[in-house]
Amino acid sequence: MELFFVLIILMLLVSFLIPAVSLAPWLPMWKKDLPRVFALAKLQPKQVFYDLGCGDGRTVFYAAKQEPTIKALGIELSLPMFLICQLKRLFSAQKNTKFLLKNALKQNLSDADVVFIYALPDNLKKKVVSKLKQEMKKGSMVISYAFKIEGLEPVIIDKPAQHLLPVNVYQF
Ligand SMILES: C[S@@+](CC[C@H](N)C(=O)[O-])C[C@H]1O[C@@H](n2cnc3c(N)ncnc32)[C@H](O)[C@@H]1O
Repeated sequence: MELFFVLIILMLLVSFLIPAVSLAPWLPMWKKDLPRVFALAKLQPKQVFYDLGCGDGRTVFYAAKQEPTIKALGIELSLPMFLICQLKRLFSAQKNTKFLLKNALKQNLSDADVVFIYALPDNLKKKVVSKLKQEMKKGSMVISYAFKIEGLEPVIIDKPAQHLLPVNVYQF
């Protein structure tokens, strides 16, 4: 029985540690920033939205509610966070959402119109920027919450007040 609990705890630790070193640990974006982020995203009917490392899925549900014709996808590497998203989806009216338990760095983004990411600057620079350059289609947009993506030039840096986190917008 003890061994069972030790294994569960180890599994949980691994589930949080691997994503933490891959892109970022789970640190949710502020809910009060959702309207600001999605005012910048300007989602259009039938577009495809991704959150790379979607945590509890808050951006995905918000996007799906704002524009019900879009496809809103959340990619998450941590099993507990993925299960939370799936549970929330069960009770949500937003069925234009989909969650995938996978490494976001392995998700092909060629169908994306808007990509949201909240990851650590060094990981953005070393693991994400070249992928975005290769896969994002013309006219698509990447929104990086809190941190700039070194190697890309933002078209907008939205920081309306000193105490607020910047939202960086990149156009492809
Ligand atoms: C800083 S949190 C952001 C969560 C969410 N996007 C938000 O803004 O509230 C980063 C999330 O990315 C996940 N993550 C880290 N590396 C990942 C990877 N390679 N693939 C998918 N998810 C990853 C973490 O588990 C965590 O939930």
